[in-house]
Amino acid sequence: MDNLIKGAHKSVSETIERVTEIVNKYDTQEFCYWGIELKASGELIGAIDLFKFDNMTENCDVGYSIGYKWWNKGYGTEALRAVIEFGFRHMKIHKISAAHNTDNPASGKIMRKVGMEHEGTIKHMIRNAKNHYKDCAVYGLLQEDYLKTEVIK
Ligand SMILES: CC(C)(COP(=O)(O)OP(=O)(O)OC[C@H]1O[C@@H](n2cnc3c(N)ncnc32)[C@H](O)[C@@H]1OP(=O)(O)O)[C@@H](O)C(=O)NCCC(=O)NCCS
Repeated sequence: MDNLIKGAHKSVSETIERVTEIVNKYDTQEFCYWGIELKASGELIGAIDLFKFDNMTENCDVGYSIGYKWWNKGYGTEALRAVIEFGFRHMKIHKISAAHNTDNPASGKIMRKVGMEHEGTIKHMIRNAKNHYKDCAVYGLLQEDYLKTEVIK
């Protein structure tokens, strides 16, 4: 959770508040927040969302997190790939972007694995819950480039 701007929840009530907020927004058109569950057991292991929709550009951002005990099993890559596919093919999003702290290389790895391109690094782009400034690597993928590579595959 140190890699997320708001940090870890400090109480169960904070989590309940957040989950309630998410559920209440399900009917809103520009709200895309998915739980990630194991196919075999249905166990909830993480979440992924498309956010910061911009009507002027039809661009948005993607964010994700997987529970620690399920890291490095390919789930983050699988979820990101699925959401990018959904965003470009069904929602017709123009560009999907994401940023990760430079001290969180696993996140950059999954972005590259799904075809997102490194566009640069921004110094002190965020200040996290522990009051530390973090440099962030910014990635993006255009729908037109995604569709081209999908045709080649
Ligand atoms: C980032 C995150 C979603 C990755 O999920 P995951 O399910 O572990 O991802 P995957 O298993 O699909 O892939 C992880 C890749 O990172 C690589 N990796 C892991 N730790 C790494 C490190 N310290 N340096 C470089 N690569 C690393 C793994 O080897 C793997 O690559 P590979 O498949 O080529 O071997 C997960 O670590 C997470 O939830 N972190 C906390 C929240 C977070 O950081 N969210 C993103 C904020 S931008």
